[in-house]
Amino acid sequence: MPDYPVSRLRRLRKSEALRSLVRENTVDAGDFIFPLFVVEGKGVKKEIDTMPGIYHFSVDKLGKETADLLRLRIPAVLLFGVVNAKDEWGSGAYHARGVVQQAIRAIKKAAPGLLVITDVCLCEYTSHGHCGVIENGDVDNDKTLPLLSKMALSHAEAGADMVAPSDMMDGRVKAIREALDGNGFNSIPIMAYAAKYASAFYGPFREAAGSAPQFGNRKSYQMDPPNVREALREIEQDIREGADIVMVKPALSYLDVIRRARETFNHPLAAYNVSGEYAMVKAAASRGWIDEKRIVLEILTSIKRAGADIIITYHAKEAATWLAEQG
Ligand code: PBG
Repeated sequence: MPDYPVSRLRRLRKSEALRSLVRENTVDAGDFIFPLFVVEGKGVKKEIDTMPGIYHFSVDKLGKETADLLRLRIPAVLLFGVVNAKDEWGSGAYHARGVVQQAIRAIKKAAPGLLVITDVCLCEYTSHGHCGVIENGDVDNDKTLPLLSKMALSHAEAGADMVAPSDMMDGRVKAIREALDGNGFNSIPIMAYAAKYASAFYGPFREAAGSAPQFGNRKSYQMDPPNVREALREIEQDIREGADIVMVKPALSYLDVIRRARETFNHPLAAYNVSGEYAMVKAAASRGWIDEKRIVLEILTSIKRAGADIIITYHAKEAATWLAEQG
């Protein structure tokens, strides 16, 4: 490469046309998965306090919302259930008439082209708010696996297109794969929350989903934030167990983990731009401290640049609208 003044890197930045030609990464509505919170009851569309612009929907209100998503060319939703009655085993999670199971059927009817992905985890359904069965004060890994398998299977039976285990139990991808394959669902993919950290960035979500642990924390199953080699082991293990798509979560403080995962594995890679990351942007934007549109598109592009193929983000609808306006 010649030195300055022969080389002038500014030459290719002179116009939008030039910048467009040499642009290395782009973000597109087709990259997005939009999380949806489904609640019990009828006629509910209620904004979530900790996540401005994001709503709780009852099943009957999902038709319009999902049709909007299709119009914006967002290909997929990720469903979370929020329930009132909870027990120690999270039985609401694998009930055939549970809120997510009903939501799947409703969305498949209202917006058949939309991919319905379901979060598979017990924390929104357990009275103690942990992601599995409690034994001697901690989540028991192996007792939790059959419940997660039942939950994933009930989603597939209701018509889900893909299941996404987020519990961080060891061996859950294998258990879920076996349950699906044993019941005629061998073509339903698994998107594994493979490298999911014990992060403070989930705070607003736990308010939204009513899933905060009632004692202790999730550090005995979710990953310790300082670790990156361990993330690669988690991802490798999930791939060996049959994960079709692997995920790093959260995204922004973990862009290095996304990059390492991209360079190490060839599986499709998702990144979850989580609730705390969203809430911080919304809070600053509401005060006029940042240019929301530019910040959001910059954030989403950075997640792509780090190596993610897929972005799960609460910004999906607004970002898709802005991207469509830009053409
Ligand atoms: C369920 C789950 C959580 C999130 C996704 N699935 C919460 C948690 O692990 O505490 C967080 C999503 C977000 O913060 O946007 N286990």
